[in-house]
Amino acid sequence: MRIWAIMAIGLSLVGCRAQGPRDGGPSAAAARGKVLYNIHCADCHGVKGDGGGPVAPLLWPKPRDLTSGIFKYRTTRGPVPSDTDILQTMKVGVPGTAMPGWDLLSMAEWKDLLAYVKSFAPRIALAAADRPVDIPTEVKSTPELIAKGRGLFAKRGCVACHGAAGNGDGPAAASLTDAWGDRVAPRDLTRGPLKWGNMPRDIYRTIIMGIPGTPMPAYEHSFTTDELWALTHFVKSLQAPLPEGYDPANPKKTVLDAAKIAGELPLDYHAPIWGNVQATPVFLKPLWHESGMTEWLTAKALHNGSEIAIYLRWTDNEMNVEGARVDGVAVQFPIEKVATPADLPYLGMGHAGRPVAIWAWHVGRTQELTARGMNAVRPKSPEMTRVMAKGTYDAGEWHVIMKREIAAAGRDDATIQLQGYCSFALWDGDLPKHAGPESFSEWMIYELAQ
Ligand code: HEC
Ligand code: HEC
Repeated sequence: MRIWAIMAIGLSLVGCRAQGPRDGGPSAAAARGKVLYNIHCADCHGVKGDGGGPVAPLLWPKPRDLTSGIFKYRTTRGPVPSDTDILQTMKVGVPGTAMPGWDLLSMAEWKDLLAYVKSFAPRIALAAADRPVDIPTEVKSTPELIAKGRGLFAKRGCVACHGAAGNGDGPAAASLTDAWGDRVAPRDLTRGPLKWGNMPRDIYRTIIMGIPGTPMPAYEHSFTTDELWALTHFVKSLQAPLPEGYDPANPKKTVLDAAKIAGELPLDYHAPIWGNVQATPVFLKPLWHESGMTEWLTAKALHNGSEIAIYLRWTDNEMNVEGARVDGVAVQFPIEKVATPADLPYLGMGHAGRPVAIWAWHVGRTQELTARGMNAVRPKSPEMTRVMAKGTYDAGEWHVIMKREIAAAGRDDATIQLQGYCSFALWDGDLPKHAGPESFSEWMIYELAQ
């Protein structure tokens, strides 16, 4: 129950005010939050919080207009979310959208961001949140209950939007719009994790409360409790398996461990050593949501003291090896040393003062690049390019291994530290709607074993 887990953290921090020198009341918190917001959030949500950042035109669903005061994700009765709800969205992000989770930041930093985010919408800043909605004791899932839920889903109108198989392609789906005037897709319920919690209680809450600002209705008075649990367990049963080792009730910071070996790092994914390395699932955030897109990749890493190899694997139904858009994958590293996660560059390839180094593999070409923002990406000359890569498409999956020396090659390059940060981006040639990658990951930690 991730909602409750974070609430417990919040409460325990109230109990012990061991937060160091972060005082100065709400306006000081908002001022600190503004600094973080302008680095990490403003490119999407806009400096004024109106959802109009420079990256917004590339995204769908659109970054929230935070001045509107409408929040989709809340556990409270009434339209005003609790602080815990907004903190929860910031911690885990919104699956299936570009909204990244900021799990790497500290609770104190989240609270500073919260103060600033709330200042955009006077309605939210001044209103008190109502109490959380009660969820009755869960009725255990059984095959009979799921069958009953399937019947209700078909007969009581869910299929009109979510489609007969829950894929989000019902007859009404294409014509739905939200409170901000954008098209909104009914979530494909076969993909996961869902946007606002993935546990049965979370799904139950969404069904009774609906989603503010969207056509998803509130069904509290339309069904009995038993019927609501039937629908909940049916919805849960639709979901394709999540990656091994991932617990949606308890999402943890993603850490990519690079085991140390002696000798050559293999570029071939068949090399037996890769079989001994733990795979880390990495969730992907789409720029432009498409049904059928890849929702996660798995990453493995090895190093030998002077070189590092990263093995990325993902499902792709069709291999795109020709034409303007070919499949590909990239990893980015901050160039400057990052003392604390708040100092990370903007996730979308940095800013002028916070550059990133990128290793990119596309079918037929391997490159290194330096970026100081989306519009300031420079490929390195072939002499300065050290990365080697091999991509293999096998039985519906890409296997790509990139390896490179750990030490920086000249200025404008990242040295791989014993512990540092990286993130990934994926290109799918099937999805030619926009330039740039199909999806990207949050910043995550890598660690080199000693
Ligand atoms: C890459 C773009 C991107 C970045 C960066 C980003 N967001 Fe978002 N954010 C989104 C999108 C897209 C949504 C809408 C998701 C949806 O509608 O389901 C969103 C939604 C939200 C919401 C609304 C939740 C609700 O209940 O409706 C909040 C709050 C939010 N973001 C805060 C932040 C904060 C704080 C940061 C920086 C720490 C941030 N975002 C960074 C794209 C982004
Ligand atoms: C009028 C169209 C419509 C109908 C009818 C409808 N939904 Fe939805 N539903 C949506 C939309 C649109 C969203 C996604 C909103 C968003 O992502 O911003 C959604 C989201 C959801 C989610 C949340 C998924 C997540 O990612 O958290 C669940 C669960 C859900 N619907 C279940 C149901 C069930 C069960 C029914 C029938 C009892 C139903 N819906 C009827 C439009 C509809």
